[in-house]
Amino acid sequence: MTDSISKRVEDLRKELEHHEYLYYVLDRPEISDADFDRLTRELRDLEDAHPELRTPDSPTQRVGGRPREGFVKVPHSSPMLSLDNALNEQELREFDARVRSLLKAAPYEYVAELKLDGLSMAAHYLDRRLDKAVTRGDGRVGEDVTENARTIRSLPLHLRTNELSGDAFEVRGEVVMQRRSFERLNEERETAGLSRFANPRNAAAGALRALDPSVTAARQLDYFTYFLLRDGRPALATHWESLEALKAAGFKVNPHRHKCRDFADLLKFIQDWDEKRHTLPYETDGVVAKINSVEQQEQLGWTAKAPRWAIAFKYPARQASTLLENIEVQVGRTGALTPVAHLKPVNLSGVTVSRATLHNEDEIARLDLEIGDTVLVERSGDVIPKIVRVVERGTSRHPFRMPRRCPVCGGHIIRQEGEAASRCVNTNCPARLRESLLHFASRHVMDIDGLGDALVDQLLNRGLVHSIADLYDLKIDQLLDLERMGKKSATKVIQNIDTSRSRPLSRLINGLGIPFVGERTAQLLADHFGSLDDIMNARPETLQDVNEIGPKVAESIRQFFAEERNRELVERLRAAGLVFAAQKQRKATGPLTGLTFVLTGTLPTLKREEAKARIEEAGGKVAGSVSTKTSFVLAGEDAGSKLEKAQELKIPVVNEEQFLAMLAEQHHSTARNKES
Ligand code: IVH
Repeated sequence: MTDSISKRVEDLRKELEHHEYLYYVLDRPEISDADFDRLTRELRDLEDAHPELRTPDSPTQRVGGRPREGFVKVPHSSPMLSLDNALNEQELREFDARVRSLLKAAPYEYVAELKLDGLSMAAHYLDRRLDKAVTRGDGRVGEDVTENARTIRSLPLHLRTNELSGDAFEVRGEVVMQRRSFERLNEERETAGLSRFANPRNAAAGALRALDPSVTAARQLDYFTYFLLRDGRPALATHWESLEALKAAGFKVNPHRHKCRDFADLLKFIQDWDEKRHTLPYETDGVVAKINSVEQQEQLGWTAKAPRWAIAFKYPARQASTLLENIEVQVGRTGALTPVAHLKPVNLSGVTVSRATLHNEDEIARLDLEIGDTVLVERSGDVIPKIVRVVERGTSRHPFRMPRRCPVCGGHIIRQEGEAASRCVNTNCPARLRESLLHFASRHVMDIDGLGDALVDQLLNRGLVHSIADLYDLKIDQLLDLERMGKKSATKVIQNIDTSRSRPLSRLINGLGIPFVGERTAQLLADHFGSLDDIMNARPETLQDVNEIGPKVAESIRQFFAEERNRELVERLRAAGLVFAAQKQRKATGPLTGLTFVLTGTLPTLKREEAKARIEEAGGKVAGSVSTKTSFVLAGEDAGSKLEKAQELKIPVVNEEQFLAMLAEQHHSTARNKES
C-alpha cells in the first residue's frame, strides 16, 4: 500500500544526496537553500508519518542522535600513526635519499598533498553505508564518534558508486573547520562571554568530541579523505588510484594534489603553496609527500611512530619577537572586556603588526605575560595576530590587572563563575551601544554604508542616538552639524539607513545581537519560524526544533526577548517599518490559511513540489498522511491508500482543477470549507 510513498521517499533521498554532494563536496550547488530545505522537509514529514521507511543513511538522519554520557572505545584496524616532519629542504632531501637507498635505486614516484590542519578520523563503511566513525585517539584505540560524524555534510552517509565493491572498507582523512566557521564560532563565543578557541583545529577537536551531536552540527565541520583501506591495508595498488576512487565514491578529496615527476617537481609544489595556501578557506601547515606505489610503501615499512614512505614538510610559521608595550581593555557589545596587546610595531612577512588580541584574563595568565616582556607574535593566514609565548621577561615588567570599573562608563565589572570574560554590568554603557550600532550597521548585517566608527562616535557624543532604533529617526539636518558631513554625504547616509529597513529578516535577527546567534543561526531561525514574532514568542523547546539549535542557544534567545528593553527595541523597529517576516514565508496567510492538505497520485499539470509550494504560499500546510486533522486530500491519477483513507474518514477530496479554484478564491473562510 505504501508503494508510491516509499518510491517518493527514495526519490527524495536520492535527490537530496545529490544536492548535498554538489554543495558540500564539489562546492557547486544547483538549487537554492530554500529549495533544499523544502525537499528535506518533505522527506522528514514522510518519514515522520511512516517511521518504517526511515533508514539510518537518510539525509534527514544527520542530526538524529541524542546527547550521550561518553564515547565508546574502538580499536583501529591498523594503527593510525603520525608522520615524520621535515622542517626545511635539507631534511626533505635526507628523507628522499633514505627512500632511494631503501628502494635500491628502483624508480619511484611521490604524490604531494596539502597537509590539512585538523584531526584525523577513520570512517568505516559496510555495504556502501556509513557504519562507524572513530577518532584517532592514541593511534591504536580511538573513540566512536559516529553520531557526530554524521553531521559532517561532506562525509557521505551512503556511497555514490558501486566501484568500491566488497562488503567492508575504511576511509581515513582529516576533519577540519573552515576559517569562516571558526571566526563565526569565536565571535559567538565571545559574545556569550566564553573563551575563544585558539585555532580551527582545537575548535574542530572540541566539536568532534562534543557529547551533543547538535553542537557538532552547529560547528560545520568538513572532512577530506586521503586513505582507502580494506582490512587495514590500502585497498588499491597506488595511492593516486585510491584518491581517485574516493572521489568517484562521493568523498571530498582535496583537489590540490600532484603526482610528482621527480624531487624537483615536489619542491616546486611545496614552493607554489607556501603563499597560496593562505587563500584557501581552511588552514594548512605543510605538504605531505607519499610514495605512490603501495608495493613500495610496504617495502619501506613503518617505524613505531610513522611510515617510512611518507613525510610532512612543515612550512615555517610567520613569527617574530617584539616588545609588549601595553595592554588596553576594550568593551564589546555584550559588555565583555577584551584585553588587547599593544606591541612595538614589527614586520611579519610584509605586514606591520602592532596589535594582538589577548582574549581574556585566563589567556594572559596562561602565557604568564606581563607588560614590558618580549613576546613571540604569530600571524597565521588572515586571522588576527596572536602572542605565542614570552621570549624574554622584561627587567621592569609589571602585571596587567583587569580594571575594577569599566574604562568607558565607570560601571561595575563582574566575572561570573564559569565565564572567561569580565563584563561591564551597565546595560546602558556607551561602549556597548557603540559596538551594537557598529555590528548592526556592518556589511554582513544591515549593511548601512557610511555608518562606521567616526559617525557612530559623533552620534553618541552628541546624544543623537541612545538605541539602535534611534537610527531610524535621524534627520538629514541633524547630521549636517557633524564633522566631515556635507549635504551630499548626510543625504546618502540617511538614504542608506532608510534602505536598510527592507533587509531580510535573517539580517535583522543577526543585528539584534542576541548572544550565540550569529549569521547562520539567524538564517536558520528565519527559515524555520518565518517571522520575528514567532521567534520571540517561541518556548525554548520549540526553538530547539530548529536543526542545530541546542538548549544553550534556545535559552539565550528566550532570555534576550524576556528583557523589557529588548522587547521595546523590537517594537520600535517594527514601528520603523523593518521586515519582520521571512520573504519566503512559511506561515503565509492566504486563502488556505488553517488548512492541511495531503497530496496523493499524479496531478495533470502541477508537479508535487509545485503543488506543495502553492499550498504553503497560500497559508496552508502539507502533511504526509491522512488523519482526522486533514482538511483536504488533493488527489491525482493513481492515487493509492491515502485516497481510501480519506474516504474512510470522510475527508473531502479535490482534484487539481478544484484546488486551483480554491487558490484563486480571495476571501476564503475556514468555516465554509469545513462544510464542503
Ligand atoms: S597521511 C600514517 N595526509 O597530519 C599516515 N596526514 O602529522 C598519516 N594530516 O595524523 C596520515 N593532512 O592528522 C596524511 N594529506 C594528509 C594530511 C595528514 C593532514 C595530518 C594527520 C596526521 C598528521 C601527521
